[in-house]
Amino acid sequence: MKVDELRLIATCPEETKDVLITELKQLGVSNIEPAYRAVHFSASEEQFYQAHLRLRTASRILRVIKEFPAKSPEMLYSQARRLNWPELFGVERTYLIEGVPGDRGSEFMRANDISKKVREGLQDSFQRRVGQIPKVDLKEPKVIIVAFLAGGRCVLSFDTSGKALHKRGYRQEGHPAPIKETLAASLLMLAGYDGSQPFLDPMCGSGTIAIEAAMIALGKAPQIHRPKGQFQFEWLRSFNRELWRTVQESVRAERQAEPSFPIVASDISETYTELARRNALKARVEKHITFASGKFQDIVPPAPTGILVTNLPYGERLSKASLDDLTALYKEIGDTLKQRFAGWRAALLVAEESPYKVIGLKTTRRINLLNGSIPCKLLIYDLYAGTKRKTPAS
Ligand SMILES: C[S@@+](CC[C@H](N)C(=O)[O-])C[C@H]1O[C@@H](n2cnc3c(N)ncnc32)[C@H](O)[C@@H]1O
Repeated sequence: MKVDELRLIATCPEETKDVLITELKQLGVSNIEPAYRAVHFSASEEQFYQAHLRLRTASRILRVIKEFPAKSPEMLYSQARRLNWPELFGVERTYLIEGVPGDRGSEFMRANDISKKVREGLQDSFQRRVGQIPKVDLKEPKVIIVAFLAGGRCVLSFDTSGKALHKRGYRQEGHPAPIKETLAASLLMLAGYDGSQPFLDPMCGSGTIAIEAAMIALGKAPQIHRPKGQFQFEWLRSFNRELWRTVQESVRAERQAEPSFPIVASDISETYTELARRNALKARVEKHITFASGKFQDIVPPAPTGILVTNLPYGERLSKASLDDLTALYKEIGDTLKQRFAGWRAALLVAEESPYKVIGLKTTRRINLLNGSIPCKLLIYDLYAGTKRKTPAS
């Protein structure tokens, strides 16, 4: 690691870590090390700002302050006290400490004990050095400190993203089952979508997947519209406003004027198609997506080849009648893909408990994922003329 490089951690769901690693490699950062639900890496200050704007699949970004041994509460306190906290952020900033016990069932310290010990050390450090202590704010702190304790060591970091990175700011209320923006981007990347193919989401709901696809196709950074003051690195003393502005400008300038291939989103419900359009407008990609209403079963593919990514409807706790309906729908989706989508790749996110086996086509790849807390699979099909249906049992 170069002397002036920053030690950083990007967090993500365990199942999508590989796509995050791909993104980090594209950013050109160094020392990429996968960890549990996270990837550690080091980066220049410029790459640090780029990462906040560009990463599509990371949930949060943490900047490591210090790592030290902490085999007892007293050690944790004294190490936290030793740090020159006023040098890191001003006493006028509100803050919050998140204690994270990494050892399962650790008797040594629970989340609250960890944050309490670090808080005591931080307060003493401020008191001793500037004669005042900053205020804790549990709801909207300007500074979030994460104290991760595992195996007798503590990693202290600032959550520099602040508001979770899936919050892109374009989604409005109105759909009961939208997927997280970061999951949508992960599905697209897992399906191999990079904007150099026509794209279709035939069950688009609030439009998340198509909007993320448009941003990928345009090379548009997902956080480029986050308002001023909403990344928490902006409240730290290390914030380099001039460099941040330069990075924002250069990232903004990378955006292409038009996608090279069509992006189509449709849904059986006109209300949802309209919602998707409004969300796309907020994300400033509306004019690059063609919206339509209609049944998946009736769709004519917008091009001879392309990538279709969608998440299929799935009701938790289905009654027998709705399970029958869903089974019929899934079977029809299998028929539609087989009959009309030769030449396409289809990636369907389905719940483990859904009747996905009746789709009946041979998958190229199956990837286990979680959609919130629902265990799911991403089924990837490469469809070609003569694609055969399988019986559900095969
Ligand atoms: C799980 S939701 C998709 C959510 C979407 N990915 C989002 O982020 O908002 C499934 C969508 O499929 C739509 N749908 C159900 N049956 C359909 C059909 N036969 N053809 C097209 N869309 C259908 C529903 O209206 C619903 O919006």
